Amino acid sequence: MRSLTTMQTPVQADNIIYLTSHQQLTALVEQLSPPFVVLGEGSNVVFVGDYSGTVVVNQLPGVTIIDDNESTVTVLAGAGENWHHFVCQMAAAGYHGLENLALIPGTVGAAPVQNIGAYGVEVCEFIDWVDAFDWVEKKWVKLSADACQFGYRDSLFKQTAQPDRYLITAVAFTLKKTFEPVLTYREVNAWFAEQPPQDGNALLSAIVSIRQAKLPDYRCTPNAGSFFKNPVISGAQYRLLQANYPQIPGFLQPITHAMPENSGTDNSEPNVKIPAAWLIEQIGFKGMVKETGAGVYEKHALILVNTGQATGKAIYDLAQEIRQSVAKTFTINLLPEVRFIGDFGGEFEGEFGR
Ligand code: EPU
Repeated sequence: MRSLTTMQTPVQADNIIYLTSHQQLTALVEQLSPPFVVLGEGSNVVFVGDYSGTVVVNQLPGVTIIDDNESTVTVLAGAGENWHHFVCQMAAAGYHGLENLALIPGTVGAAPVQNIGAYGVEVCEFIDWVDAFDWVEKKWVKLSADACQFGYRDSLFKQTAQPDRYLITAVAFTLKKTFEPVLTYREVNAWFAEQPPQDGNALLSAIVSIRQAKLPDYRCTPNAGSFFKNPVISGAQYRLLQANYPQIPGFLQPITHAMPENSGTDNSEPNVKIPAAWLIEQIGFKGMVKETGAGVYEKHALILVNTGQATGKAIYDLAQEIRQSVAKTFTINLLPEVRFIGDFGGEFEGEFGR
């Protein structure tokens, strides 16, 4: 299974099924029994041990325009379509919105699972609905964007209780025919300081260059993208940390959930998102490589890499060490952005094991 995940750790599974056509679906939903796990291109997962079950590799194809209006177009894309290829296709056709999400590894079907986001854009802004098979209710469902409960790198599909409840078959996106580039992210803004991008392709090319400059290509340096989520802490905790670490970066979050008046929480004070990469760099892990081959990318501290022979367990152990060290130094609990799968063979806390 090494080639089925971008972390490329050695893994055995009992059975692998490649889902390549809609004709296979009826038989699959009748015959497949747990335990099973569905993968796209395996770009956000780490198998911590071998997998005693079936791995379904979702390669369902197809890109179809299902609604074409004056200002928008709605496109239904098969879950197995390569994400970057789909983004390029849309930009080339003059359908806008997804350009900032270029070069994110993975498939269309994986995009809503963790609500992929980059450079000021999250995919949920363009998702109309998700077609899926619900293994609990044993029926096909069409989940509206609201039903998907999108949050920062989060959705219904990541809920701890049943992470594989839904087999996503297709995603519907509504894209704009007018080009309104999002240039808010510092690096993108700097790129276009002299002149804004003329079209979607110009923006897409810039995003590709910005990503390539600091994020490793998993084909050369196996990795799973950002390994942890950026933690969000209270304004009060941020001020305390600033006293000891005046350089600590922080981004104010919009106040979305006002707490009850008697909760003791200051409703007027926004929470602060801290770059996990900065925390990991401060504790001295950036660029370090363990004897196991598990390491932290030298150009970006949020990316854990497999330098060659690392096992999934070695990656997991390094992640735990980073997490514990960040907790000790900053009293901040890092949560994984990747999903761990397999037999953990050890303790894990809270969301770290989901
Ligand atoms: N930084 C460091 N050391 C580093 C790298 C970064 O201190 O080695 C600090 C800097 O202060 C920098 C800040 O971290 O300004 C933020 O870094 P960056 O702009 O690279 O963004 P990020 O927060 O690390 C997030 C997403 C990425 C997405 C980029 C761009 C998460 C978990 N990650 O990374 O998404 O591409 O922003 O929008 O939110 C992914 O999810 O796999 C992913 C790559």
